[in-house]
Amino acid sequence: MPAVEVSEVRKSYGDVVALDGVSLTVEEGEIYGLLGPNGAGKTTLMEIIAGLRAPDSGEVRVLGVDVVEHPRRVRELVGFNPQETLLYDPLTARENLEFVAALYSMPRDEFQRRLEELTDLLGMADFLDRRTGKLSGGQQRRVSLAASLLHRPPVIILDEPTVGLDPDARRDFWNLIEGLRSEGRTLLISTHYMEEADELCDRVAIIDRGRIVAVGRPGELKARRGGRSKVIVRVRRRHVDRALEILGDHSPALTADGIVIEAEDPRTLVPDLVSLLQSRGVDPESVEIRSPTLEDVFLNLTGRRLAEVVE
Ligand SMILES: Nc1ncnc2c1ncn2[C@@H]1O[C@H](COP(=O)(O)OP(=O)(O)OP(=O)(O)O)[C@@H](O)[C@H]1O
Ligand SMILES: [Mg+2]
Repeated sequence: MPAVEVSEVRKSYGDVVALDGVSLTVEEGEIYGLLGPNGAGKTTLMEIIAGLRAPDSGEVRVLGVDVVEHPRRVRELVGFNPQETLLYDPLTARENLEFVAALYSMPRDEFQRRLEELTDLLGMADFLDRRTGKLSGGQQRRVSLAASLLHRPPVIILDEPTVGLDPDARRDFWNLIEGLRSEGRTLLISTHYMEEADELCDRVAIIDRGRIVAVGRPGELKARRGGRSKVIVRVRRRHVDRALEILGDHSPALTADGIVIEAEDPRTLVPDLVSLLQSRGVDPESVEIRSPTLEDVFLNLTGRRLAEVVE
């Protein structure tokens, strides 16, 4: 049985079509990424899967349970970590978590055990008894994550969990996610960071304007829709014209990054390019191979750059 099954889900807010017929399947134990720019529909989709928002039409099942028919049951199966952390600032981290435990009618001793586990897992010992209003963004994120993990949900939905984290904290977070997966949990994570989707996720759905435009393993997507690799050659400024002429047969393009040549097989092309240039008296300053990224996939599928849409 799949962990999450979404079929033909539609949702509009007035005139705004947020989800325009979305279908996807998340297998148990998977880390599944939703990658898309601002306004793509990621939060709407996650809230619907978590049973927090009703779709206009379509079907959603979490571990076989229909979300529209049994939203309460689904909320027990799902740990949902919202994009904006919902903590009560005057309370300490511990008190916030006690409050959440009460919502789940969790017995006192079980809460204590779970709190200890999560404090270790998320490194919260230093700030457990401080008011959450006084914590850093990264610390608040961790408390919020603890709240969504408290009741040991088999399916964990994290909406842009790493926004505002510095690169170190983001790495730590990725390790944590791997840890949750190794406990057998299923993770659905939204992000607009393509490197994150690429590194962390088993499979990625690229979502744009309420539609899923591609689904697959990151490697597959890049190979299928990422286009060709590029070789980027940099030479001294005074050698640029000459280098362009020497490399003329390879359709070089001069960009801000350097001289860009598309290559089917860059690893064999690079030594050829270097010896060609050197034999004509031009010594390259650097030669770089750039493989396709999910950014290229997004660009090829939508005609826009993910980063530009996000800014
Ligand atoms: N409560 C709401 N009322 C009206 N429109 C909404 C509401 N929530 C979302 N929308 C609109 O629906 C579309 C999808 O929004 P959603 O928040 O699901 O996107 P997102 O992919 O999560 O974006 P972001 O990356 O900015 O979080 C957007 O056009 C947004 O303006
Ligand atoms: Mg969102």
